[in-house]
Amino acid sequence: MKARFVFLLLILLTRAVSAAETPDAAREKITVLRAEIARHDDLYHRQSTSEIPDATYDRLRRELEELERRHPDAARSVPSLAGIGDDRTGRFATRRHALPMLSLAKAYSPADLQTFHARIAGVLGRENPEYVVEPKLDGLAVSLVYEHGSLVRAVTRGNGVEGDDITANVAVISNVPRTLRLPDAGGVRPERLEVRGEIYVPLDEFARVNAEREAAGEPRFAHPRALAAGTVRQHDVAESVRRGLRVACFALGTIEPAAAAPASQRELQAALATWGLPGIPVSWPAQGRAGLDEAVEAVRRARDGFAFPSDGAVVKLNRFADQRIVGASDTAPRWAVAYKFEPERRETRVRAITLQVGRTGVLTPVAELEPVTLGGVTVARATLHNREEIARKDVRVGDMVYLERAGDVIPAIVGVDRNRRPAESRPFVFPSVCPACFAPVSREPETVAVRCTGPACPGQLRRQIEHYASQRALDIEGLGPAMVDILVGQGWVTAIPDLYRLRRADLLSLGRDNERSVDQLLAAIERSKRAELWRVIHGLGIPQVGVTTAKDLALRCGSLPGLAEKGPEWVAVLAEPRYQDLIAELVRLGVAATSPSPAATTLRGKTFVLTGTLPTLSRVQATEKIEAAGGRVASSVSRSTDYVVVGAEPGAKLDRARAFGVPLLDEAELRRMLERK
Ligand code: IVH
Repeated sequence: MKARFVFLLLILLTRAVSAAETPDAAREKITVLRAEIARHDDLYHRQSTSEIPDATYDRLRRELEELERRHPDAARSVPSLAGIGDDRTGRFATRRHALPMLSLAKAYSPADLQTFHARIAGVLGRENPEYVVEPKLDGLAVSLVYEHGSLVRAVTRGNGVEGDDITANVAVISNVPRTLRLPDAGGVRPERLEVRGEIYVPLDEFARVNAEREAAGEPRFAHPRALAAGTVRQHDVAESVRRGLRVACFALGTIEPAAAAPASQRELQAALATWGLPGIPVSWPAQGRAGLDEAVEAVRRARDGFAFPSDGAVVKLNRFADQRIVGASDTAPRWAVAYKFEPERRETRVRAITLQVGRTGVLTPVAELEPVTLGGVTVARATLHNREEIARKDVRVGDMVYLERAGDVIPAIVGVDRNRRPAESRPFVFPSVCPACFAPVSREPETVAVRCTGPACPGQLRRQIEHYASQRALDIEGLGPAMVDILVGQGWVTAIPDLYRLRRADLLSLGRDNERSVDQLLAAIERSKRAELWRVIHGLGIPQVGVTTAKDLALRCGSLPGLAEKGPEWVAVLAEPRYQDLIAELVRLGVAATSPSPAATTLRGKTFVLTGTLPTLSRVQATEKIEAAGGRVASSVSRSTDYVVVGAEPGAKLDRARAFGVPLLDEAELRRMLERK
């Protein structure tokens, strides 16, 4: 409903702007627009969600700016928008920033860039000032404060003056150092340093978290920004690690002594690297107007290859002395501008609307499209999410639709061209039976989900088997969607245990030349009997049990019989006969998954803390290995820590370990420990 309202509003405004307006009409429109924008600001900053694409929001803001420019008197007579929004949640203690955290002015066209440059050239009296152009990361702004080299505070932007204190959550983010690498000699040590940056979720992590949530029957995050903002403001700090949050720093707040300060943005980038702080991974130097256009284009071209979410480029004057001359307004510096890229948009036709049956029976409508390329990939399908969403957008078979990549990630239908709708088209009618098994569908009270009620639906079964065999579960090579289709289609597999009853002769009957691949498939299935227990638990597709819960259960239960016996204490549905029978059958068929792996006797119940950079293992790899062997990795050293694994440039954790007398290991010792039986 609301999105439709916004579209209507846009149409009205576009008309209104071109028509002659009375000051009263302008005042009214400004009021409506400001209220609408404030509502979206609140959704975005405080609730970490949004109802409209960013581009639509930007259009609303531009309309408002345009009206305010043409009707300054009307604009002054109605309550104003707070300059930069407010992300304080009320759930954290707040902290004042030493220097206000400003927003950035926006540019949408080369003409806007020209205006920005002309003003700077005018103030500096030079035609060719040096700029730096960086990608604009799309996440949540954060200020990090280090005192004498130690991280003491991390605060959100808040209202620019004070923000939420999220130190505990930021301290566990894997690329945020707790202690800086400061030079002993040569160069001045910054005793107090405040840097600003963005908390974000890498795109592959975003995809992984969403796939996991979908599998566990939880709603997806619409945008990586929502995931980052939602995670880092939870009180469960471990989520920040599980969801792979990262930080990139790109601005200097305050630094003491002043002699330690870099003199330019490029010097800051180099200093960040020396101090061990994560910077922006790429940037482009530029000089003068022509250089600026080129660099912005370079960011646009490079954008599809970025591993992080980005919605534009940030242009900055390079030299801090120049920045000081140009100065700032109340809400934003005048020496920088954010060039927002319009999301790529394509038109295409909806050929059909099909329904996908998920492994828990949820029916998801999908638009089958005439293929188009969007942001470098061919798109032939786009999810329509659910029944309500189709009704709201009124997408019909035969419609021309606008396709954008939401947050430049997932292709989404953002609108329908009603003018080109075929005369005979009819609204889509959500079927009342499952397309795979023809059982009636049920609507769940409280949710938008429509589910197949069939007890033996082949659609659900296919997805369950695909999930069981998938990489994050049993990782059975050769058992992808095409093979699953065959196995289910032939009736050889009617439930997970049937995989362990497949007959070589049956598989060979599929064709003459496939002996090798049949043997490989059977061997892979055989190997899966000895997989790690958490993989089997995750593969069973128990509602609400994703990888994390599966790992917890595996540690607690130790084996499949253990899962049947003790699992229900933590996950009640495991007591149901369908799970009890399924587990018993897998055990009978020889699935002997255990947890932890053979090293378990050494590491079970042991708590490790990692500090510094290990020679070959990344932090994630080391954690996985320790966990696979039954150990636990904690983020801080306490008296109950069993071992601290120390790499190059260790942090304060090493001092604490020494103070508590906790044994220290290097990577080689850790590896030996992991190999011990
Ligand atoms: S410089 C005075 N550089 O965009 C502000 N900001 O819309 C200095 N952002 O608050 C910020 N990528 O959170 C800068 N490469 C980048 C950025 C960036 C993302 C964010 C930042 C800022 C917001 C403004």
